[in-house]
Amino acid sequence: MNKVKVGVVGVGTMGKGHVRTLNEIETCVVSAVCDIDEVKIKALRDEKLIDEKVKSFSDYRKLISSGLCDCVAIVTPHPAHLEIALAAFKAGLHVMCDKPITCSAMDADRMIGAWEKTSVKFSTMYSMRANPCNKLIKEWIESGRLGTIRRVEMTCTAWLRTQKYYNEQSWRGTWKGEGGGLLMNQAPHNLDLLYYWFGPAKSIWASLAGRYHDIETEDEVFAKIVSEKGFPIIFSANTGEFPGKDYVEIVGTKGTLVKNDGKLLFRELAEPIDKTIKESEKAFATPEYKEQPVEFESSKTSGHKSIFMNLFDSILKGLDNDSLIAPGDDGIHSVEWANAMLLSKFSGEEIKLPVKRKTYNELMKKLIEQKIKL
Ligand SMILES: NC(=O)c1ccc[n+]([C@@H]2O[C@H](COP(=O)([O-])OP(=O)(O)OC[C@H]3O[C@@H](n4cnc5c(N)ncnc54)[C@H](O)[C@@H]3O)[C@@H](O)[C@H]2O)c1
Repeated sequence: MNKVKVGVVGVGTMGKGHVRTLNEIETCVVSAVCDIDEVKIKALRDEKLIDEKVKSFSDYRKLISSGLCDCVAIVTPHPAHLEIALAAFKAGLHVMCDKPITCSAMDADRMIGAWEKTSVKFSTMYSMRANPCNKLIKEWIESGRLGTIRRVEMTCTAWLRTQKYYNEQSWRGTWKGEGGGLLMNQAPHNLDLLYYWFGPAKSIWASLAGRYHDIETEDEVFAKIVSEKGFPIIFSANTGEFPGKDYVEIVGTKGTLVKNDGKLLFRELAEPIDKTIKESEKAFATPEYKEQPVEFESSKTSGHKSIFMNLFDSILKGLDNDSLIAPGDDGIHSVEWANAMLLSKFSGEEIKLPVKRKTYNELMKKLIEQKIKL
C-alpha cells in the first residue's frame, strides 16, 4: 500500500473541509464518501471535490463493508461517532474520529475498549496539538524550563458563534443532538491542550450557563481543574464575546510563560520563587526577572492536515499508535473533564475523577427528556 484509501462519513461543514484537505495529501486518496443528506454529496461533486469514480453512500455500514476503504474519517455530529467507530473497528479499518470522540465517558470507554481489541490505528482530530507554539509549550513544561508548575490560567473566549450558527443545524446546542454546547464543540480543543500539556486531573469544579444564545446548553464555562500534580488550572470560555482572548498563563517556580493571541512571552526569574519565599531577608520582596519573547517556527501546514499526514504515515510505516500526534484514546480526557463540569454544575460540588459514568448518564437522560435549559 502506498496510499491510504479513506472513506469520509459525514460531509457537512467539517467533513467537506476534510475532503478538501485529504485531496492535498499525497499519501492518501478519498475513495468513498457517506452522508445521510444527499445534498451534501451533490455539493462535493458540484464543487469537484470528488470525481465520478468516488463512490457515495447514504449508509455508513455500506461504506465500511464496501472494501473500498482502509481508513474511515468520522465527521458526523458527535452522538453518531460511537456506532460508526465500533463498526469500523469490527471491520478492521483504521479510524480518524473527529472531536469529541463521544459525548460521554462511558461511550468513550466503549470506543477505546473496542479499538484495543484490534491492531488498527485510531486518531482523533485535536489539531491544536500540531501547532508549533503548543508543541514548544509542551517541551518547555516537560524539560523543567519553567520549574515546578504552580498555577495555570486559560481563557478561551475567541470562539464567537451567532444564533444563526445554532439555528442552521438543529443538533447544535441541544442535549440530545450534541450532549452539550461549548464543552462538546469548541472547548474540547482547549481541554485537550490542557491534558496534552499537564496530564490527568484529579478533580473539577465548574459553573456553566447559557447566557448569550437561545439554546438549551451551556455557552459559558468557568472551572477550576486540579491537576493530579496538585496545581490548579483556572479555565474560562464562552461563545459570546468579540474579539475575545486566546490566553494561557503558566506559572512555574522558575518563571511565567504567557501565550496571548499566538505570541509567547517568558518572564524568567533570576532565582526560583520558592527559594526567594524561603530565604529572602525582605518581607516584601520584588525578585529580579527578565521578560523576553519566545520565538517558534511558524506553521507551514494546517493542524488538520498535519494530523491526517501523521496518521497515514503511521499506517503506511506500521508504527505504534503512540506515534500519533493525537491518539484516539487520548480523546477520552476532554470528554471526561466536560462531563465532570456538567456534573459539578448540577451538584454544586467539586467532582473527583474518574467521573461516575452511571451518575453522568442519568443526569444527561434527565436533561434530554425534560429539555432543561441552562
Ligand atoms: N476538528 C475540528 O476542528 C472540528 C471543527 C468543526 C467540527 N468538528 C466536528 O465535526 C463533527 C461534525 O461537525 P460539523 O460542524 O461538520 O456538522 P454538520 O452538521 O455541518 O455536518 C455533519 C454531517 O453529518 C451528516 N450525518 C449525520 N448523521 C450521519 C450518519 N449517521 N451517517 C452519515 N452522515 C451523517 C449530516 O447529514 C451532515 O452533513 C462534529 O463532531 C464536530 O465536533 C471538528
